[in-house]
Amino acid sequence: MADNPLGAGLRLPDDVPLVRKLGHELIEFLPVGVYLCNAAGHLTTYNPKAAEIWGEAPDLGKQPIKYTGAYRLRSEDGAHMPLEQSPLAAVLLSKKPITNLRMIVERRDGSQVPILANIVPLLGKDGNMIGFMNSIQDLRQHAAQEQAQNNLQNALVQAQKMEQIGKVGGGVVHEFTNQLTSLSMSLALMEKEIRDAGSEQLQARYALCREATDKVTQLAEGLLLFARTRPRTLERIDPNQLLLGMSTLVGNEAGQKIHCQLNLATDSSFLRANRQHLESAIINLVTNARDAMPAGGQLTLSTFNSQLDRSNFPQHNANFKPGRYVAIRIEDTGTGIAPEALEHIFAPFYTTRALGKSTGLGLTMVRSFVTDMNGQLTVTSRLGEGTSVSLYFPCHGTEHSLAITGGEGASTGE
Ligand SMILES: Nc1ncnc2c1ncn2[C@@H]1O[C@H](COP(=O)(O)OP(=O)(O)O)[C@@H](O)[C@H]1O
Ligand SMILES: [Mg+2]
Repeated sequence: MADNPLGAGLRLPDDVPLVRKLGHELIEFLPVGVYLCNAAGHLTTYNPKAAEIWGEAPDLGKQPIKYTGAYRLRSEDGAHMPLEQSPLAAVLLSKKPITNLRMIVERRDGSQVPILANIVPLLGKDGNMIGFMNSIQDLRQHAAQEQAQNNLQNALVQAQKMEQIGKVGGGVVHEFTNQLTSLSMSLALMEKEIRDAGSEQLQARYALCREATDKVTQLAEGLLLFARTRPRTLERIDPNQLLLGMSTLVGNEAGQKIHCQLNLATDSSFLRANRQHLESAIINLVTNARDAMPAGGQLTLSTFNSQLDRSNFPQHNANFKPGRYVAIRIEDTGTGIAPEALEHIFAPFYTTRALGKSTGLGLTMVRSFVTDMNGQLTVTSRLGEGTSVSLYFPCHGTEHSLAITGGEGASTGE
């Protein structure tokens, strides 16, 4: 149709050299592959992008090449498409364009390129068929983008799910903790009677109940922290004093086979955090370190100040503010974490421990807490050598800790 040239094909003068010239000059630099075939379906010209998609640059001087420079064509569903029955051949007969046709170019080396083809018949002045032009768009990038989009969508759904779990979990866990408190209290009341009764079997069973209750209470507390439903009071904390105060607990938690060392910088700044959450974060990290050293090893807890900016602290999390930070570092000489696992360890419920042994919420909670305190968390690990987790908190005030009274095993360092 005259008023819609594309609707019925491009109307061109019956001048093949001109068509060729047009082909060469206009299509040379297009980011889409473009090629022309004559009325017999023989390839007459193509641009570099078409050759890139085909994976080869056909020699037009040799025997005629029909319909396409591609080694083979496949339909979108992967079925082999014989050229004589392809839409390319059909256009020459029907003189009607074919738009947005998805196909697959199979190259000689077997690799495949998804394409979007737009085939336009080229018609002479009197409507006779001169050939067709096919513009082929490389969909590989598009496919990658689609994949990225899908991944993003999945991540979003996952995040929304987690948020939902957080909300629902918060309510349920409150109910849990109430019930657990009465269970715990009842157990405590029974303890003396059971001890007095003198039955070893009864005592062993009691110990089991106690242990299970403690575990569940711990889990519930963790979930509460994760769901962030608990009111939190912040206080000024001297990290050195905090670690000194925790050293016995840490030592017990680590067990006999692990040598614990404190490495406290005398000038450590104060920080501001919820004390209970900070202690719980440290204990969580200590337990992880202990579990990574089943045959024993060295556990080092240290504090130090650090001036962080974007260049010397590239691993910063979102909403990082450059400035003065004080760090608490927990370091072990354990199994280490494989690089491919490193990206998963903060995911809720990610655990490599036996089913039922652990919750996989430890690091999730630690990071959530540190982020809540406007802090930063970094993990470095080497398989077979050990792991180091550092919690950075913004310095609070200009005073610093001088009061190191030398706790057990304490040594000072810079
Ligand atoms: N210090 C560490 N050394 C080696 N692996 C660790 C260490 N800390 C954490 N991990 C790995 O990260 C996983 C997740 O830790 P966490 O969130 O605390 O959950 P959980 O301790 O319940 O497994 C652990 O199962 C373990 O594989
Ligand atoms: Mg843990």
